[in-house]
Amino acid sequence: MSSSRLTSSLYLLTFALLLQNVLGIDPLFRRCSSNTNSTATRSYKTSLSVLMGSINQLAPVEGFALGSLGQSSQDRPYGLVLCRGDVSPSDCRTCAVIAAREIRKSCPNSKRAIIAYDNCLLKYSDTDFFGQIDEENKLYMWNVNNVSNPVLFHEKTIELLSQLATKASYNSTKLYAAGEMDLPEGSTKLYGMAHCTRDLSSADCKKCLDGAIGELPRVAYGKEGARVVGGSCMVIYEIYPFVKA
Ligand SMILES: *[C@@H]1O[C@H](CO)[C@@H](O)[C@H](O)[C@H]1NC(C)=O
Ligand SMILES: *[C@@H]1O[C@H](CO)[C@@H](O)[C@H](O)[C@H]1NC(C)=O
Ligand SMILES: *[C@@H]1O[C@H](CO)[C@@H](O)[C@H](O)[C@H]1NC(C)=O
Repeated sequence: MSSSRLTSSLYLLTFALLLQNVLGIDPLFRRCSSNTNSTATRSYKTSLSVLMGSINQLAPVEGFALGSLGQSSQDRPYGLVLCRGDVSPSDCRTCAVIAAREIRKSCPNSKRAIIAYDNCLLKYSDTDFFGQIDEENKLYMWNVNNVSNPVLFHEKTIELLSQLATKASYNSTKLYAAGEMDLPEGSTKLYGMAHCTRDLSSADCKKCLDGAIGELPRVAYGKEGARVVGGSCMVIYEIYPFVKA
């Protein structure tokens, strides 16, 4: 009885996640700068609008784009778009367009902002942040369901994600890796993903991912799945195959 209730609630959760993935409407998070020094001028907004348009054109091709634009240093936005490594070019384009529209609506006067969806991340700032690990913007999500053997499961999670972190950082032109691992008990498998924004060096990508993995014991110990999504990198693990195509 209680086990079947658990099963149906798990299905509900999975379904809700799938629905959100398909529609891609709700951002995972968004953040705008709000202090008076970071109010965008008219010329900043103009540059930003052109910049967003051009990086959104480029992003679907490689899954990533960055750029900056503007006459004077006061009015020069720096921006990037990253699509999750398993997202198709057309879904990447859709997500980037929605992200640009939403961020303009949510943060109309901000010189710095970030918005993250399941499929993509968009970020801009009036300072050159390229190549620097974003320590400020971070989101944690976890599956409410607990695993039955947390000690072993956690160990395997860290093992898989650490392998993927190394692969993404040092053996992938896209700073992206996804993979799976058999769990010793039962028939379940563990699935994982690691991804960095491509302005980072390999060493900084690894550092960012290791930082995210290092937070899992605190935020998601013994949970069936979790994500740490930051402004420079993300890690995900689940017990079902969540990687698209
Ligand atoms: C705004 O900029 C001025 C000059 O750079 C600085 O002194 C002040 O602390 C800044 N204010 C905020 C809220 O950041
Ligand atoms: C998971 O474990 C936590 C802590 O023991 C508990 O509060 C929570 O209700 C459990 N979740 C489920 C879905 O059983
Ligand atoms: C990098 O990837 C290639 C192809 O998958 C593999 O043959 C090679 O062993 C990998 N190198 C490292 C250092 O992991």
